[in-house]
Amino acid sequence: MSQHTAEYLPASTPNISSILQGSYNHPLTREWQAERVLTKSMLIFPIFISDEPEEDCPIPSLPNIRRFGINKITGYLKPLVAKGLRSVIIFGVPMKEGAKDPYGTSADDPNGPVIQCIKVLKKEFPDLFIMCDVCLCEFTSHGHCGILQEDGSLNRDLSVRRIAAVAVNYVKAGANSVAPSDMMDGRILEIKKGLINAGLENKAFVMSYSAKFSGNLYGPFRDAACSAPSFGDRKAYQLPTTANGLARRALRRDIAEGADGIIAKPATFYLDVMREAAEIAQDLPVCAYHVSGEYAMLHAAIEKGICDEKEIVMEAHNGFLRAGARLVISYFTPELLDWLKN
Ligand code: PBG
Ligand code: ZN
Repeated sequence: MSQHTAEYLPASTPNISSILQGSYNHPLTREWQAERVLTKSMLIFPIFISDEPEEDCPIPSLPNIRRFGINKITGYLKPLVAKGLRSVIIFGVPMKEGAKDPYGTSADDPNGPVIQCIKVLKKEFPDLFIMCDVCLCEFTSHGHCGILQEDGSLNRDLSVRRIAAVAVNYVKAGANSVAPSDMMDGRILEIKKGLINAGLENKAFVMSYSAKFSGNLYGPFRDAACSAPSFGDRKAYQLPTTANGLARRALRRDIAEGADGIIAKPATFYLDVMREAAEIAQDLPVCAYHVSGEYAMLHAAIEKGICDEKEIVMEAHNGFLRAGARLVISYFTPELLDWLKN
């Protein structure tokens, strides 16, 4: 039947504007279609640093990612820097008995994991851009991101002052950037004021986790950082999943308070937010955080043979750029450094 059809039907003459395939029939013309191309300089790699100097420990829920002590991190990073790693974000993990209290005192302990790590990395890799996550949850006995009042709710004023003090101490130790992930109201302004008071305002890039949603995708991170809350949840400070409007308000607020860059997270389920962030924050770089749960889910699919690792990871990261991100915090950074030419 089908071989006769052509004889009976006239050749179709489509509208000129119907023809698209001529635009992308060659590998080079396919490359030309990208509005933004993923490069190594866009990648920020999360590292977990504990206060056990010799630690080198896998994290079962976060495949291929390890938690390191201060004596082990430079050996791990050296080959990555040689492959073109430009930036890391440090997460401190106090593990020792008594290292946690209600105020997160160990967050900026001069002998604690974060400050020690900043110093070691600065010395060993002078060109590496050192970003520090700023939060209290890894360091507080209750596991919440701020300081609590009697009834267990947050004390905003004490929280932002503590967060700002920690951020300033990280910059004093040599961090190039501080990224507050605590979600307390007014912390960007407090950090900027703190930096000005310390004469460090022109030394640090303040990267705000502005559109950070509460949800189900941070579990593996909390295993790695030992930072799950001991009671309750984070729903009174991280944004509700459905809250586009709150995300826009938080973005506008943090920009007005002086953020130098903003983060939207998680990434894959929130690409609409990424697009809106890119429009609202068009004068500053927008960073996608491909969070631990998203990473673990992709790994599970790859291990099951559902998709090819390189293909799916490139597709995911290109999605963030297409939505408007200019930077990506990614646990796939080591693999991407192998795959990307530039
Ligand atoms: C600390 C912090 C978290 C993440 C980044 N900073 C955990 C949380 O808010 O509970 C999550 C990152 C990830 O899942 O990879 N507040
Ligand atoms: Zn936190």
